[in-house]
Parts: sequence; C-alpha cells; structure tokens
Amino acid sequence: MPRPLTARIDHDALRHNLALARGLAPDSRLMAVVKADGYGHGLLRVARALSSADAFAVLTLEDAVALRDAGYQHPILLLQGFYEAVELPEIAARGLMVVIHEASQLDRLLAWRPPRPVDVHLKMNTGMNRLGLPPEQYRDAVAKLKAWPGLGELTLMTHFATADEPAGIHWQMERFDDAAHGIDAPRSLANSAALVRHDVARSDWVRPGIMLYGVAPSVETAPGDLDLRPAMTLTSRIISVQHLAAGERLGYGGTFTADQPTRVGVVACGYGDGYPRHAGTGTPILVEGVRTRTLGRLSMDSLYVDITRLPQASVGSTVTLWGEGLPAQEVASAAGTIAYQLLCGITRRVPALEVGVETDPAARPVVTA
Ligand SMILES: Cc1ncc(COP(=O)(O)O)c(C=O)c1O
Repeated sequence: MPRPLTARIDHDALRHNLALARGLAPDSRLMAVVKADGYGHGLLRVARALSSADAFAVLTLEDAVALRDAGYQHPILLLQGFYEAVELPEIAARGLMVVIHEASQLDRLLAWRPPRPVDVHLKMNTGMNRLGLPPEQYRDAVAKLKAWPGLGELTLMTHFATADEPAGIHWQMERFDDAAHGIDAPRSLANSAALVRHDVARSDWVRPGIMLYGVAPSVETAPGDLDLRPAMTLTSRIISVQHLAAGERLGYGGTFTADQPTRVGVVACGYGDGYPRHAGTGTPILVEGVRTRTLGRLSMDSLYVDITRLPQASVGSTVTLWGEGLPAQEVASAAGTIAYQLLCGITRRVPALEVGVETDPAARPVVTA
C-alpha cells in the first residue's frame, strides 16, 4: 500500500477562485501569479486550471520556459525580470515580459538590441522598499524606455506592502499617482489583498496569487467570507495508535506530557513533507472530519494527534492536515507562519491527486509545433 499522504489539487476550486477574482475586477486584465511551483500546487497543474487567465506571472526563466514548452501562449511576466544579461536572448525568443525594478538592470536592458519588441513592466518602489525604482527616478526611466527601439508595451507597476492591514494602500497610491501622473501607459497594481479590499487598485492589470489557491488574503477574512475554495487539501491516515498513561511523554524531546490517559494517533505526515515543524501541541487538525489537536513535537515523517475523545478513530482513519474543512491559515497561525509558506513548502515526496481536471479540449493549452 502506498504511503497514505496526498495533496489533493482541485481544479474546480482553482477555476472557481479565478472567476471570483475576475468578478472583483471585470474590466481589468488578470495575471495569475503561479510562481513557486504554482504556490506549491504544481506549475503545470495550476496553469491548466487557470488557463483562462489573461497572463501568467512567474519568478524564474525556467518556469516561463516550462509554460511555453507545455504550449501556453499567454503573456508571461518574469516578476524580478532578468538577473544576468545572458538570459535576454531566451527572454526574446520565448516572447516573455520583464519587470524592470532597478537602475543597473534598466541600463543592461537598454544596452540590448532584441530581435523583437519586449514588453516591460517598470516597477516603482512606493514604500515597500523591496524592489522598484525610486519615484524621483521613474519619469526619467520611462523616457529612456520610450526612446529604446526594443520596447513593446510599457506597463507601470508597483506592489503594496500593507494591502491587508489597516494602513491600506492609499499612502502608496499617492506616491504612485504623483510619480506616474500623465504617463500614458497601463497600470498593474493589485495583489490579492488589494484586489479584494481596495477598488482603486483594480487598474488595467490585477495580479492575484494567494486567493486563486483559496486562501483569504487577509487575516481578518475567512476564506468562506469571500466564497473562496481551497485548491489544496492535504490528507493522510493514522498508521499507529498509542495509549499514554498520565505522566507519560510523547515524541522527540518529550515535549508533551499526558495529564490523563490519552489516546494518540500517529499520522503519516511530518516536516519532511512540508508540515510546519513549529506547529506545537494544539494545532488544529481533522480526524474523520472531526476537529481535534496535534500533540507534542512532530518528526520528519509523522506527527501526533489527540484521539482521546474520538473512540471511532483507529489505524486507517482519515486525517486532514489542511484544506477542505480546515483553512490552511488556521494551521499556519498556530505554527506562527502564513498559509503561503505551508502551500509552497509541500515537498516533492507528497504525491498530488488531481480532481476536476477540465476535459473540454477547448480549455486545453494550444500546443505549438
Ligand atoms: C509582484 C507581485 N505581485 C503579485 C503577487 C501576488 O500576491 P498575492 O499572492 O498576495 O496575491 C506577488 C506575490 O508575492 C508579487 O510578488
């Protein structure tokens, strides 16, 4: 029997979440962010489910090439542009769009004569202080790009730091609007949180990521409030049952001590699969759909679940680590992290089980010769 841990990837949920994102900004072009292996769901799996998006955004040239090789002819944006000039010929050959976020990167681009026009998303740092040209250098960069013979479409872009927090986006929007005022080019602004919460960010392009995977982009919002559906459900089974007497300890370091007779289910899932190691006693988990808690310190291949009050639970019982019935962000908060990290952190040894795969040939990517 194979190891019972699987990540169920629900294509219906991905399509549903995409439709929901579109409904929030019906007049915008939607760029589905599928970096980090489709937020851990599998790049080509999510590309297939999200193929009605207007564009894809990835981080690496390798991911963009994988999408092209699979036949996707969508516009594809490299979110950090290029790192080395040697990547540029492939970028042109594959018809990719680049973010330009830094002065020396811009200079290297301008020194290049591409064989065909390249679309550029020029990023402004409006306060996130991660990537982007300072607002005072922006106009000059736009002028240089417009004078560059290699330019295809120019898009003006920024990224929000606090779209899901009370500070909101207005402080960044003001800087962006000031510096971009009067520049005749489309805008690309919103990540998921801005798309959901700030209608001013619903510009020519929107760039949702996390919401497409069914995770609410803000801690105060439950996924159900937005009608998002989890695209990944991580399930396993109990493979052993232990009975602790009061006073007995459990697992490495013996960090959990039973204060009463305790029935423990040992679950086939550990940090070697991507379950967060910092999830201590009390992390929510479902056994046969019933919510209970993890116990003690998990190990590489297994974790412990409290089944003292679940007499029906035994070896073979189904366990849901996150997903359907248990939002990933609940598990993430118990482990002091965010759902993004849980989803991206799923390791290669966890087999994916795809459900709801679109069989309509019209929905399949066009494969070029
Ligand atoms: C530049 C950029 N745009 C959009 C996104 C999507 O963000 P989210 O997953 O929060 O919707 C990301 C993700 O980190 C990003 O880096």
